[in-house]
Amino acid sequence: MLAKTLKPEEYQAIHEFLERQAGIRLGTGKEYLIVSRLSRLLPTFDLAGYGELVQRLGQFGSTSLQTAVIDAMTTNETFWFRDIAHFRVLTDGILAESRPTRLRIWSAASSTGQEAYTTAISLQDAMQGGRVGRMLSYEIIGTDISPTAVREAQGASYCGVAAARGLSDDQRRRYFREQGGCIEVLPQYRKGISFRTFNLLKPFDSLGRFDVVFCRNVLIYFSQERKRDIVSRIARVLNPGGHLFLGSTESMSGHEDLFEMRNLAGGLVYRKRT
Ligand SMILES: C[S@@+](CC[C@H](N)C(=O)[O-])C[C@H]1O[C@@H](n2cnc3c(N)ncnc32)[C@H](O)[C@@H]1O
Repeated sequence: MLAKTLKPEEYQAIHEFLERQAGIRLGTGKEYLIVSRLSRLLPTFDLAGYGELVQRLGQFGSTSLQTAVIDAMTTNETFWFRDIAHFRVLTDGILAESRPTRLRIWSAASSTGQEAYTTAISLQDAMQGGRVGRMLSYEIIGTDISPTAVREAQGASYCGVAAARGLSDDQRRRYFREQGGCIEVLPQYRKGISFRTFNLLKPFDSLGRFDVVFCRNVLIYFSQERKRDIVSRIARVLNPGGHLFLGSTESMSGHEDLFEMRNLAGGLVYRKRT
């Protein structure tokens, strides 16, 4: 079969679609990314080429194609205990200081779930070690625009690289059950966690309010205006004194009116200003 070619105007149209619907900006020269990720959708949706794909994307009722394109174009890279200092900040900084009995946490771009499960593991270890109150009850909500990533997160089962990246042998033994080369998160670390698909460009009202939000390694894909909009809407769903974690390469520059930076327990976090 001949490889389908992607014309500049088709690239532009797909680029604009992604930015409008998901906030994702590919930048220039990413034709290879579109071809490598979308070519398999052509036979699935019975499309002759990218021209027809672009045409169908713009048609009313093409929701399943739109979802599939967004799903395929998201970069779901994540790993266990990513930016490990953040989890220490949460347990040994924020929670040691405030000693809450209830906690609602949002993993706002949860990808395949490692961030949410790492949070639960860290909370339970801290509870067992007496570093936070043993009676702490928590709820963790993971959301992501990618339905495939959300399904994987809900399954709590990881194989290959996803079963290894960020984990020591000891952590694999303590927090997971081995299953034919793959690993499954132990039930006690799945308790209190749920995942759902959610687009950060949509209103946050349906999610409720939170004490802590992890919004890590996703704002990098968005424009400055969208970043500002999302960060200010996160501030609105945070309870007074609530905290926001950004990725280690991301900064709050331009949002100092909403959040103050804190250096706590060896890591950085942003607290909502009152
Ligand atoms: C690089 S991963 C980061 C995962 C995790 N937060 C971490 O730091 O390891 C970025 C995630 O953002 C999600 N994403 C991209 N645009 C989004 C949007 N508009 N709404 C919700 N999630 C989005 C992608 O699907 C992807 O899973």
